[in-house]
Amino acid sequence: MNTKSSQFNYRKATSADIETIKAIIVESVHGLGSNDYTESQRNAALGSAFGLDTALINDKTYFVVEAQSEIIACGGWSKRKTLFGGDRQAGRQPELLDPDTESARIRAFFVKPGWARLGIGRRLIELCESEALEHGFHSTELVATLPGHRLYRACGYIGEERLEYKLPGDVAIHFIPMKKTIF
Ligand SMILES: CC(C)(COP(=O)(O)OP(=O)(O)OC[C@H]1O[C@@H](n2cnc3c(N)ncnc32)[C@H](O)[C@@H]1OP(=O)(O)O)[C@@H](O)C(=O)NCCC(=O)NCCS
Repeated sequence: MNTKSSQFNYRKATSADIETIKAIIVESVHGLGSNDYTESQRNAALGSAFGLDTALINDKTYFVVEAQSEIIACGGWSKRKTLFGGDRQAGRQPELLDPDTESARIRAFFVKPGWARLGIGRRLIELCESEALEHGFHSTELVATLPGHRLYRACGYIGEERLEYKLPGDVAIHFIPMKKTIF
């Protein structure tokens, strides 16, 4: 584990954290996503592609990261089919995945500006992959933002093809599907 990332407290998110998590997502997307996405892309994605999926909190597969007692990041994994997006994203698939034949999902990583590049994202991936393994999965997959792609590539995820997704308001955005074998 990165020594910097180990100074933080990683715990499971609860419903009491929901409003704080929503605020962190907004700050993170505007603060760390502005080199890759325009303001209209960021605003269109917030609340849809970049929203909180409360199913992960109910499933106890979503983490928050604390510095002292302040929540500074969040991220998780899922045993359900939905690949990305918050509660209001269209096309949600709550069905459970088959760990023998399907990949666990890595979902919704957001770090507060000012806390980036301290190894928090990498540590969250380690925690998620370890739990997915314990649940019998052999691989993980995700749909990365362009900032997220840099993190996931550094963590061994494969995938370079930028796909265009339509957001509310007919705004287009690029994401990158990525996958990794875990063992
Ligand atoms: C993507 C994100 C979660 C990364 O979190 P993070 O805690 O800063 O990532 P880490 O510090 O663990 O980075 C681990 C490695 O990933 C790579 N990496 C992460 N961010 C990078 C960046 N901005 N530029 C280049 N490489 C980067 C580096 O190899 C880094 O290792 P290093 O710092 O030792 O060079 C964060 O930038 C973020 O919240 N972005 C905005 C929201 C978003 O797009 N989330 C992704 C949803 S799919």
